[in-house]
Parts: sequence; structure tokens; C-alpha cells
Amino acid sequence: MTADGRAVVLNAVPLWPIRECRRRKGVKKRMDEIQIQNLMNRNDIQACAEIMAASDPWKALGITYEDAMEFFHDRDKERYVVVSAGELLGFLIIDMSGVLRGYIQDIGVAPSRRGMGIGNMLMDFAEGRIFRDSRNVFLCVSSFNGDAQRFYLKRGFEVVGEIKEFLVRGHSEILMRKSLGPALEFMLPSRMKA
Ligand SMILES: CC(C)(COP(=O)(O)OP(=O)(O)OC[C@H]1O[C@@H](n2cnc3c(N)ncnc32)[C@H](O)[C@@H]1OP(=O)(O)O)[C@@H](O)C(=O)NCCC(=O)NCCS
Repeated sequence: MTADGRAVVLNAVPLWPIRECRRRKGVKKRMDEIQIQNLMNRNDIQACAEIMAASDPWKALGITYEDAMEFFHDRDKERYVVVSAGELLGFLIIDMSGVLRGYIQDIGVAPSRRGMGIGNMLMDFAEGRIFRDSRNVFLCVSSFNGDAQRFYLKRGFEVVGEIKEFLVRGHSEILMRKSLGPALEFMLPSRMKA
């Protein structure tokens, strides 16, 4: 795990999607290592902010590059990036404090790298990280972000509520949870059923 700053090396996967490999005859499949590591420096922050400012749902929510820079500067959150061969492929921000301890605040993959398994890798990592210290993983997804809702439902998340006009007027945030059990059973193990 990377809470202490060490990189996690995940399985090597082809950086070209399968269909791309087939299409680009003669292009050698790249099998670079993909790593999830702590967000390190200003270059990382800029690369993350560029992805965020260029992508829905953030674009549709009116988040600018400058706003995004602020999110990634927030040292109270755990901030991770996924990189391969020097290229930043995506990001993850987790909040391990507050009422909804274990809240995935933001996850994103660079537009040209979506649909290749990187989002699922980031989610595997996020859930592993959170379940180490908590029994619940929470996240919010915008009501208009149907692709991401399907992505989370497929990973076993359940809708637990709708927060109307939470971020912007006219749209809701859908609160989702993946749970191993009630929080107090983890915090106070004596309450666990035998
Ligand atoms: C949602 C997201 C993180 C998933 O990452 P990914 O690397 O594309 O995901 P994977 O390749 O591991 O899995 C692909 C699955 O995600 C779904 N998906 C969701 N949004 C997608 C998108 N914009 N492009 C491609 N696939 C997307 C696909 O339908 C696919 O489902 P399938 O396995 O049933 O075919 C990524 O697509 C993304 O950054 N989207 C824009 C930002 C966003 O919506 N973030 C979530 C905010 S709550």
C-alpha cells in the first residue's frame, strides 16, 4: 500500500486496448508496468488538473483547471496517481476522515486511456486501502453520469441515497456505498456477533 509513500506495482497490462492492438498491425504491444503511487509534485498536480478540467462530470459541473488545482493541493486527503512509463494515466482522491470515513472523492482516467481496465485497478486499490481501516466505502456520482453509475454498480456498490442539488442546481449527487458491515463492529470489535 502507498499510505507510506511507496509505489505499488500492479500487474503489467497492455497499454493499447485489445481492439487497438488488432487494428495497429505491426505495433508491438507495450507491456509497461503500471504503478499507483502517492501524488508527488506540481507536475502531477497539473497533469491531474488537466484531466479533470477536460472531462465530464467535472466540466459539466463547471469545475475549471484552477479549481481542480486546488482539489489536488489538499493535503488533508490521500491523493494517488496511476502512472506508466512516465505518463500519468489517472488519479484518485480519498478522504479517510469525517462522518463518511472512506469516501472516494474523485477518480478519473485520462480520456485516451479509458476502457482499458485502469479505472478498475484504481478502484481495487481504493477499496483495499479503505477496507484496511474502515468497513464502508462511500462515493457520490452525479445523476447525469450514467456510465460511472453502471461502473460502480457492477463493482458491487449500492445506491443509498440521492442528494438533490448538492453540487449544482438541477442535478443530484447519488450517494453509493460498498459495505463489509456496520462501522461500529469494526471500531468496537466486542460488538461483533460470535
Ligand atoms: C469512470 C472511469 C474512472 C472508469 O475508468 P476506466 O479506466 O474507463 O474503467 P475500466 O476500463 O476499468 O472499466 C471500464 C468500464 O467503465 C465504464 N465506463 C464508465 N465511464 C467510461 C468512460 N468515460 N469511458 C470508457 N468506459 C467507461 C465502461 O462502461 C466499462 O464498463 P464495462 O466493463 O461494462 O465495459 C473513467 O471512465 C473516467 O475517468 N470517467 C470520467 C470521469 C468520471 O466519470 N469519474 C467518476 C466520477 S464519480
